[in-house]
Amino acid sequence: MKFNLSEVNDLIRSRRSIPPEHFTSRKVQKDQIELMLKNAQWAPNHGKTQPWRFQVYLSDTARQELSQALGKLYMETTPDDQQNDAKLAKLVRRPLISSVVIIVSMSRQLEEKIPEIEEIEAVACSILNLQLTATAYGIGSFWSSPKLIYTKEMNEFLGITEKDKCLGIVYLGYPKGDWPKSHRKPIEYNTVWKTQ
Ligand SMILES: Cc1cc2nc3c(=O)[nH]c(=O)nc-3n(C[C@H](O)[C@H](O)[C@H](O)COP(=O)(O)O)c2cc1C
Repeated sequence: MKFNLSEVNDLIRSRRSIPPEHFTSRKVQKDQIELMLKNAQWAPNHGKTQPWRFQVYLSDTARQELSQALGKLYMETTPDDQQNDAKLAKLVRRPLISSVVIIVSMSRQLEEKIPEIEEIEAVACSILNLQLTATAYGIGSFWSSPKLIYTKEMNEFLGITEKDKCLGIVYLGYPKGDWPKSHRKPIEYNTVWKTQ
């Protein structure tokens, strides 16, 4: 065995979506974030386009600016009859109660040779690597995808082109209390074996 499978299984199965509302004020350190980002680079990616891009909101000031920006984007991009005060409040509060926030986007290959879906998939894999690394540190992560991240206004805020895509806002922080548990269906529910 090349790796300790028991630990690999534990790590993969322990990764949980832990919302910022469950974070303590304990700070995630910059070297921990750097390792998450380094491991994110090791995701599979077709044509080695390495389409992942990360914007890291670390300081109090950066997270306050993000909080304000998300509130503004929500108001700008949500039709009046769909605006919801509770959703807005959550969006504005989350950057403030997280230790760090990472916005992840896909940078579209200029030649557009690789299908777009594959570049999106590669970035999704990179987010998983990031989350698994956070899990190894005992740091909680939460991949959030409010509708506003898919708007042109969001791309403008991030300074990315119209062809690029924001995939998510990842909130990071140490969780309060016990590490949450989850469950999955047995493989019989989703797997067909072709044995003949
Ligand atoms: C592409 C993607 C987008 C997601 N967006 C949200 C979101 O907007 N809000 C949310 O509560 N969870 C979001 N999640 C997290 C899922 O809700 C979560 O993975 C699922 O409930 C399973 O829980 P677990 O991650 O703890 O195993 C997202 C996950 C993925 C893969």
